[in-house]
Amino acid sequence: MQEGLTFDDVLLVPQYSKILPSETNAESKFSENIPLKIPIVSAAMDTVTEHRMAIAIALEGGLGIIHKNLSIEEQAQEVKLTKRFENGFINDPATVYDDALIDDIHNIFEKKGYKKIPVLDRADKLIGLITELDYFWPHDKDKRVIDVMTPIKELVIAPASTTLSQANKIIREKKLAILALVDKQGKLTSIVMRRDLEKNKKYPEANKDANKSLYVGAAIGVGGDSLERARTLVKNGVDVLVLDSAHGHSKGIIDMIGTLKKDQIIKNTDIVAGNIASAKAAQTLIKAGANGIKVGIGPGSICTTRVIAGIGVPQLTAISEAVRGRGKTKKIPLIADGGIRYSGDIVKALAAGADSIMAGGLLAGTEESPGETEFFNNKMYKIYRGMGSVDAMQAGSRDRYGQSSISEKAKFVPEGIEGRTLYKGKVDKILYQLIGGLRAGLGYNGAANICELQKKAEFVKISSAGFHESHPHNITMTKEAPNYKVPNA
Ligand code: XMP
Repeated sequence: MQEGLTFDDVLLVPQYSKILPSETNAESKFSENIPLKIPIVSAAMDTVTEHRMAIAIALEGGLGIIHKNLSIEEQAQEVKLTKRFENGFINDPATVYDDALIDDIHNIFEKKGYKKIPVLDRADKLIGLITELDYFWPHDKDKRVIDVMTPIKELVIAPASTTLSQANKIIREKKLAILALVDKQGKLTSIVMRRDLEKNKKYPEANKDANKSLYVGAAIGVGGDSLERARTLVKNGVDVLVLDSAHGHSKGIIDMIGTLKKDQIIKNTDIVAGNIASAKAAQTLIKAGANGIKVGIGPGSICTTRVIAGIGVPQLTAISEAVRGRGKTKKIPLIADGGIRYSGDIVKALAAGADSIMAGGLLAGTEESPGETEFFNNKMYKIYRGMGSVDAMQAGSRDRYGQSSISEKAKFVPEGIEGRTLYKGKVDKILYQLIGGLRAGLGYNGAANICELQKKAEFVKISSAGFHESHPHNITMTKEAPNYKVPNA
């Protein structure tokens, strides 16, 4: 029987180095034609990646994969919002309808912190703006927004075609806190905030295509409306399609790659297929025409496939096997999907031969992940759930687990769980630490880039005593570290 190892079973032996972490290059590829400035991709999960996450991670150099528990139109809209994003414009501002109450406005403020909210009529036309200066809280609680807002005739608005520098000029000259942009029908297209102008964060490492739009991917499945979904996504500008299944080494996935590669609309778009965990599976999907292979059966933090079905391969062995299957001829990028808890796991996954990693749990619970924050025991949390959990399958992801034909909730055989994760704040801080750890790992290996890391890496298998020695021991942590949590805490 073959031995199966995962991240905690090994360490990387330090190598002679003249490379400092700051001198390293973390660039890689997600698929044959989709580059990455940092090798981190956000998972196609309904509690991880919609346009806000996709934008935030691409701005830092990575890539987001929009999940598919959405209607075709909704998923295409998420892609469009990401592709259309221009630093400074908010293309999906929180809005209210004219019949909302001040109580509703206060709720938005409590949940999201927004104090200036455009007001729309039922035809989505901009009719005014409500700000914290328009009402007294809680005195005006039951008043209608339309009775206290600043109406459109008293606002400065600009046409949808306004550039960012023109918008900035208007904001300065007219001393505005917010500028709303509307199209010819009077519908709100975006807003620009003075506050953002002042912060004016630059993103030199943003992962952008030749037209200077952020790269974005989207998940699709097999069967049903998948082909129509794929075509619509491509028409709306998606850069890469991720053919997502819990069992990628299967006829359905192989046939679907063939269908997509023959389709006139889709054939020039990269297709990443998965998930797999063996050399044979990697070979088969490459032969079928995949432009990237996603590796990981059951390593995810919310996965129960291994315990429910008894199936899986510990993730480091799965990566090594996929690398072996890929061979040396044509380098189709491999994505190590699931089980990443620390930046050190990223270094190990890449050293074993992966070209990038996909993360769910690490990025869930951030400001940019979908879902509301909720209070529990005086702490803020967000929901993180497996796409194979009962509620996620009910919301649409059952085809990933070969259960499309089941509609009754009680009849699902879930392969994932649902839970809450501590609210982590903005995702850029997390990515900063992950990349900092990766660069440190490259430095220790004397590697200037990921390719050199893969050539130089030397793994050592460790015992459970070695594992315990690796984590802080004989001490009670009294201060939170920005990049370390006690295992399973
Ligand atoms: P992490 O460890 O980053 O893993 O939270 C995210 C990856 O886990 C996969 N995934 C699942 N696997 N049951 C599974 O067996 C599930 O319900 C499930 N949901 C997500 C997926 O590959 C994701 O990127």
